Amino acid sequence: MQDVQFSIWTRAGGQAVKMGSLYVTDTEARFSYTADFVDSGLPGLSLVYSPQLFAETTIVHHQSGSLHPRFRALIPPADEQNFQRKLMLAFLREKGVEPGSGFAADLALLAHTGHGGIGHVDVFPDDDAAQRWYTSDDSGPLVPIGDRFGFSLKDMISWLDADARFILESLGPTPSVGGAIPKLLVAIPAEGWDGRISLPNRIARDDRIDVVLKIERTQAYPGLAALEALALDLHREAGFKTPRYWFAEVGGLPALAVERFDRSDDGNPLPMESLYSLLASGARDIVRHTDGSLDRIGKVIDLAEPLLMADKKTARIHLLERLLLALLTGNGDMHLENLSLIGAEGKAQFSPVYDPTPMRAYSMHNMLCAVTFGEYGEHPDEDDPLQAACIQFAHNIGLRRADLGRCVERLLEVTAGYGERVGALDTLPGENRERLEGIHRDMRQRLRGLQL
Ligand SMILES: Nc1ncnc2c1ncn2[C@@H]1O[C@H](COP(=O)(O)OP(=O)(O)OP(=O)(O)O)[C@@H](O)[C@H]1O
Ligand SMILES: [Mg+2]
Repeated sequence: MQDVQFSIWTRAGGQAVKMGSLYVTDTEARFSYTADFVDSGLPGLSLVYSPQLFAETTIVHHQSGSLHPRFRALIPPADEQNFQRKLMLAFLREKGVEPGSGFAADLALLAHTGHGGIGHVDVFPDDDAAQRWYTSDDSGPLVPIGDRFGFSLKDMISWLDADARFILESLGPTPSVGGAIPKLLVAIPAEGWDGRISLPNRIARDDRIDVVLKIERTQAYPGLAALEALALDLHREAGFKTPRYWFAEVGGLPALAVERFDRSDDGNPLPMESLYSLLASGARDIVRHTDGSLDRIGKVIDLAEPLLMADKKTARIHLLERLLLALLTGNGDMHLENLSLIGAEGKAQFSPVYDPTPMRAYSMHNMLCAVTFGEYGEHPDEDDPLQAACIQFAHNIGLRRADLGRCVERLLEVTAGYGERVGALDTLPGENRERLEGIHRDMRQRLRGLQL
């Protein structure tokens, strides 16, 4: 292949500025900061690629056909089922771009749709394209999504023929678990969902809220939107920061419009990066978002050079409680893309909760946890491997046994009515309700022994 060059920009400081350049060759990918950007003090490409530490060097990703994890996060995964990827490739075809290979498609998607998504990193083919994109503050009119917007790609594309630019530009390059859930990045009226959407905001506006609009694939995952809403409620009740959400409907399908938290009150993009990106940047054995272990997040929290987060104890408790609540609610899908840090170096924190959906309700996702923790199952002499793993996990991330006991006690209380609430979800089929209620009962029973 020929080398490909990209221009990386950000609007994190309010003004659009160039962050650096990315060169992709057939053997590696190379990113360098510009000198002006290093001087600006703005947050860099990744929390682990501090502009100050990498001011004089190039950050090289030594692998052919691959990019730094932080860039990969801006491209929908190469998966037959991935809705966003299919849609964006259709968009490229419309523009006359027909990539030859999977990696060529990744690069084309990065160039054309790698900006305006989640977080503060924007990728463009060159500086002119960046400047053109930033000159427009207009997010267009609010238009009814109505019946014109169905779920199927075919329906969608035919709707797009009329107004292609509008909806295709509104698709955010968000990563997803094999694209299980079709998503759109759009804005809705400040009063909440009323069936109208517009392009995402480019600047803060009092009259519109940026949301991730997640559309339920009712056939594969009936009741999913209601389940996600219940899980968000429960996390809020447990004291986690959670985004506001609205029940919505798109082309007759249930959907959830979840307020985006990767924008400041001034409308500037906030750095947000998944634990997958953070861990994969430093560890060769982490290739997929289910690799490694949750315990290794403890190392990210502990990192001193660069220092990522100031309040380490809060972060440790947060991680432990996310795991315990995932176990108790039957989430099962808490992988490294479903946990992120938000904010700049030294001030980063775990982001508000997203994607806490109790996926174990669906038989094909019914596993304890997508990523292992506490050397689960490797303590054969223990009575219950789950208890042993929780104790080991708490220890591995630098917490005491007493911290674990207190967290378990608190979360058992918070989830006391969970079974009944699941039972009352009328869009979730009986079989799925029963599975989830059963899992929850079992988890309560087993975690109870960890109280002090
Ligand atoms: N409210 C939000 N604000 C900012 N970013 C968000 C928000 N919700 C999700 N995101 C980002 O978008 C990505 C995809 O969203 P999410 O995890 O909810 O969907 P998904 O992974 O496709 O769903 P599923 O795992 O059920 O297939 C997340 O990894 C996260 O980076
Ligand atoms: Mg997710």
